[in-house]
This record gives sequence, C-alpha cells and structure tokens, in this order.
Amino acid sequence: MKAVFLLLVCVTVCAVLGVCEGGNLRRNFYEKSCPLAEEIVQNVTWKHTSTNPILPAKFLRMHFHDCFVRGCEGSILLNSIANSKAEKDAIPNLSLTGFDVINDIKAQLETKCPGVVSCADILALATRDSVSFQFQNKKPIWEVLTGRRDGRVSLETEALANLPSPFSNFTTLQRSFVSQGLNIHDLVVLSGGHTIGLGHCNLFSNRLYNFTGKGDQDPSLDPTYAAFLKTKCKNLADTSTVEMDPKSSRNFDADYFVALNQKKGLFQSDAALLTNKGASKIVNELVTSTSFFKEFGQSMKKMGAIGVLTGKLGEIRKKCSVIN
Ligand code: HEM
Ligand SMILES: *[C@@H]1O[C@H](CO)[C@@H](O)[C@H](O)[C@H]1NC(C)=O
Ligand SMILES: *[C@@H]1O[C@H](CO)[C@@H](O)[C@H](O)[C@H]1NC(C)=O
Ligand SMILES: *[C@@H]1O[C@H](CO)[C@@H](O)[C@H](O)[C@H]1NC(C)=O
Ligand SMILES: *[C@@H]1O[C@H](CO)[C@@H](O)[C@H](O)[C@H]1NC(C)=O
Repeated sequence: MKAVFLLLVCVTVCAVLGVCEGGNLRRNFYEKSCPLAEEIVQNVTWKHTSTNPILPAKFLRMHFHDCFVRGCEGSILLNSIANSKAEKDAIPNLSLTGFDVINDIKAQLETKCPGVVSCADILALATRDSVSFQFQNKKPIWEVLTGRRDGRVSLETEALANLPSPFSNFTTLQRSFVSQGLNIHDLVVLSGGHTIGLGHCNLFSNRLYNFTGKGDQDPSLDPTYAAFLKTKCKNLADTSTVEMDPKSSRNFDADYFVALNQKKGLFQSDAALLTNKGASKIVNELVTSTSFFKEFGQSMKKMGAIGVLTGKLGEIRKKCSVIN
C-alpha cells in the first residue's frame, strides 16, 4: 500500500515537474545492440546535409509532424496504402521532403544491424544531426534519447486533426500543445523552429490582402514588412515562398523572437504568441541565442518523447515507408 502510494507520488511529482521528459527513452539505447548506430545516422545525415542545405528545416518540421500525430513513432514516414491515405499525404504535408534520406540512413543501418534501429529514432537523430551540422559547426544542439519503436498506423485524418494550422489563434495553439503534454513555454520555444526555413505565401497572404474580408491588412503585422511581403506574394493565390525569419532564415538563432516583437511574425500562429501575456513574456526571455538554445534543447527533448512506443510496443520496421 505504502509502495503504491509512493509510486503515485513519484509519478505525480514527475508529471508536474516534467522531470520525466524522456519517458522510457534512454541515452544511447543501441550501445549494445548496434554500437555504431548513432555514428552511422550522423555520418549519412552529414553527407546529405552538406549537399542539401534545406534538409535541416525539412527534418525539423518532419519530426514535429511525426510527434504530433500518434506520437514520435515514425508514422509520418509511412506511405499511403490501398484505401487509406497516410499522414504524409495530408494537406499540412506541404513541402515536406527528405524521406529519401531517411530511407538511405535506414538502408545503411540494415546492412550493419538488421531489424534493430527504429525509423522513429532515425528521424529524431537525423533532425538533431542535420541542424547541428548546418548551424552549430557539427556540435549537437540538443540531446536525443533513443529507444523509440515504430508504429503501424498512419492516417491522413489524424494529421488534419492534430497538426496546428498557421491560421490558429493562441487559444487553439495552446490547446493543441497541451493535448500533447506540452505547455505554453514549449509552444513559444518550439515556435522558434521557424528561425529556419520557408513559408508559402498562400498560408499568410490573407494578412496582406484580405484580413477581414474587406481587402484590408492584418493590423498586427508591421506595415513596412507587409509592403515587402507584397512584393514577394503578388496576390491571394500566389504560392511563392518567403523566409519565415526575415533576413535570418539561414541562421539558427534567436532572431525569430526579435522579429516577432517587431510585428514581423509571418503566420497568424506566430503573431498569436504576442496575444497572451504569459507567452509574450517568454518571447522576451528568448531574444538572446544562449537562452533560446538551452530552452529549445529541453523542449525538443520533451517533444521527442511524445507518445513514444517503447519496450514491446510497436515494431522495428525493415523499411521506413512500409510496416513489416
Ligand atoms: C506552433 C504551431 C506551428 C504551426 C502552426 C506551424 C506551421 C508551419 C507552416 C504553415 C509552415 C510552412 C510550410 C510551408 O509553407 O511549406 C511551417 C514551416 C516550418 N515549421 Fe512550423 N509550425 C508550428 C510549429 C513548429 C514546430 C514546433 C517546429 C519544430 C520545432 C516547426 C518547424 C518548422 C520548420 C523548420 C519549417 C520550415 C520548413 C521548410 O523550410 O520547408 N514548426 N510551419
Ligand atoms: C563516420 O565518419 C568518420 C569520418 O569520416 C569515419 O572516420 C568513421 O569511420 C565513420 N563511421 C562509420 C560507422 O561509418
Ligand atoms: C502531400 O499530399 C498530397 C495530397 O495528397 C500528395 O499529392 C503529395 O505527394 C504529398 N506530398 C508529400 C511530400 O508527401
Ligand atoms: C480561436 O479560434 C477558434 C477556432 O477557430 C475559435 O472557436 C475561437 O473563438 C477563437 N478564440 C478567440 C479568442 O478568438
Ligand atoms: C475578400 O474576402 C471577401 C469575404 O470573404 C470576399 O468576398 C472577397 O472576394 C475577397 N477578396 C478577394 C480579392 O479575394
């Protein structure tokens, strides 16, 4: 009885303080079963990133989309099957690429340790390694725990239901993150992922041309910046791309938060972070890169542990695009 009570207290404390961020994941899970696993992922990721500088942004977003739908269990990597569209074929998939790189990493791991390393772990590691290679002179920007196993289900409908839209207000964003076990702090910090990469005009041009249906502009967008964006996005139907972090999308830094405060957040979902007092305060704390990096690492660790399958759950896929 006492033991049960203690266990309950531990679980509660752990949940409240968030110290159980890693869940059942561990450091270097493949140490015995495939000692070179993390090195192989890193080598192959670096090789691809060196010739493909957009890969870090692609992987960062792919990892986020994986984790927010059924947890980080590689379901974003699965192809659609007869009569069932997969997550990767849902509308929010817009511009996801890099699946071929994941498949290449997996193929190389299968020659060394067949059936051992999960696709979910590969995505988590490759994301960290590509971002670190490109933006931090190869030094790991955050720690990735391993031991994830792969899921067997991937549904377009679940991607549509669980991925936050760029048109979301703060309430909706908060609800989305809280339902994943993340808090407002994580929401603000992880939105900093938008320090790299591109966004399509049609996902924010309503803010430039027809915000309330009267041909008007979003007043929460800096007018000079809006004028600049109009030169890139000619009309509501334009599907060109622009940097999400203006002039700094090739640096992984805290400029995203500086831009936000200057009313230069690209999406309504970015600007929404300033509409909540608590969130806005966190934005102000993240404008220096040292604090952003530290916080980003911690929130990525939390995100990387969402709904993971460990132990005997799930499977280790042979190919990342199909279940065994
Ligand atoms: C808070 C809710 C979020 C919303 C509504 C959102 C929405 C979006 C949208 C609409 C795009 C542009 C896609 C395109 O036009 O091709 C985008 C890009 C991106 N997002 Fe987010 N995002 C969110 C959170 C995150 C998080 C948590 C991360 C990772 C930590 C992330 C990382 C990225 C990256 C790296 C890109 C650039 C992709 C590229 O260049 O192809 N986002 N996001
Ligand atoms: C990874 O790359 C390094 C540097 O090129 C090389 O020394 C090492 O043997 C590679 N590791 C594996 C497992 O291929
Ligand atoms: C995204 O979904 C669309 C619509 O189902 C599909 O045609 C496209 O190939 C998908 N894109 C990626 C990168 O999977
Ligand atoms: C936020 O968006 C949701 C969904 O579109 C809507 O129901 C809600 O009223 C909005 N909340 C605020 C405060 O605007
Ligand atoms: C702007 O929005 C209104 C209301 O939704 C719509 O009637 C109008 O056609 C839109 N204007 C353009 C240029 O699409």
